[in-house]
Amino acid sequence: MKSTEQKITIIGSGNIGLSLAKGLVKSGLYPANSITLTRRNLSGLAAYAEQGFLISNDNAEAVKNADIIVLAVLPQQVNKVLDQIKTAVNPDRQLFTSVVSGVTCKNIREKLFDQLQVVRVMPNTSIAIQESMTCIASDNASAESLKLVKEIFDTVGITIQINEELMTSATALCACGIAFFLRAIRAASQGGVEVGFHAKDALMMAAQTAKGAADLLLQLASHPEHEIDKVTSPKGCTIAGLNEMEHNGFSSAMIKGIKTSAKIAGELYTKE
Ligand SMILES: NC(=O)c1ccc[n+]([C@@H]2O[C@H](COP(=O)([O-])OP(=O)(O)OC[C@H]3O[C@@H](n4cnc5c(N)ncnc54)[C@H](OP(=O)(O)O)[C@@H]3O)[C@@H](O)[C@H]2O)c1
Repeated sequence: MKSTEQKITIIGSGNIGLSLAKGLVKSGLYPANSITLTRRNLSGLAAYAEQGFLISNDNAEAVKNADIIVLAVLPQQVNKVLDQIKTAVNPDRQLFTSVVSGVTCKNIREKLFDQLQVVRVMPNTSIAIQESMTCIASDNASAESLKLVKEIFDTVGITIQINEELMTSATALCACGIAFFLRAIRAASQGGVEVGFHAKDALMMAAQTAKGAADLLLQLASHPEHEIDKVTSPKGCTIAGLNEMEHNGFSSAMIKGIKTSAKIAGELYTKE
C-alpha cells in the first residue's frame, strides 16, 4: 500500500500530534483527509477541521478505519486511552506507533494485543518546522513497518533507528535537548546584551550563530573540536572565553543535565 492511500489516526492532538499532522500534509505524502485527529476538547481542533483534517473525540471510533495509529497523549493518560481503544484495534492489520515518553512497546502490547506491531518514536518540538531529530525503536515490528514509520517521520526531520532500551536516553538528548540548546542560546544572547547589543538583535545573532555551528557539523560531517580549533588562535579571545566557561562547568553542566533528564524520563509512566 502506498503511503498516500493509508489512513492515520493521531490520538492526542496536542503539540507533537498536531506538528506531525501538519508536517505530513506539508510533505505532500498524506492529504489532510487521510488523517484523523482526536482530543477530548474538540473546539481546539476546529481550525484543523477547516483545513480538511477529520476530527473526533471518540478514540475507539477514530482508530477503527486507521492503518496507522499514533499515540500522542501524556504518559499519565495512556492507560485510559488504551482501555478505550482495545476493542477497536485490529492487531493483524494495524501498525501502532507511540511518541509517549517512558512507555515501552511491551507496556502497550500488554494493554492491547500480543501480536500487535508497536513502534516507539521520539521526536522533538522542531517537528513543527520539519526539523525534528526523531528516534525510532521497536522490539517486534517488521522491517517493512519500521521502513514505513521512518518514511513518515522523515517528512518532519531526520530519523535514526535505535535499540529500545536507549529510548529514555534519546528523550533526554533530543526531546529535552531542545530546551537545553535554547537555554544556551538565551544565555549567549544575554552575554551579547552585556557586551553592547540590544536584546532583540543579540537573540537573533546568537540563534543564527548556533544554527551555523550546528550546520558546520551536519553539512560538513565535521567534529566540534575540529571546528573549535579553527576559531581558537593562540592567546586569542575565543580560547580565553571558552576556557572561562569550562572552568565554570559548561560541559559538565550539560552532561549532568542530560543524565538527570534521562533518569526522570525513564520513570514518567511508572511513577505516580
Ligand atoms: N513535547 C515534547 O517535546 C515531546 C517530545 C517527544 C515526545 N513527547 C511525548 O508526546 C506526548 C504528547 O506531548 P505534547 O507535548 O504533544 O502534549 P500535549 O500538548 O499536552 O498534547 C496531549 C494531547 O492529548 C489530548 N488528550 C488527553 N487525553 C486524551 C484522551 N483521553 N483522548 C484523546 N486526546 C487526549 C489533549 O487534549 P484534550 O485535553 O483536549 O484531550 C492534548 O491535546 C507525551 O507523551 C510526551 O511524552 C513530547
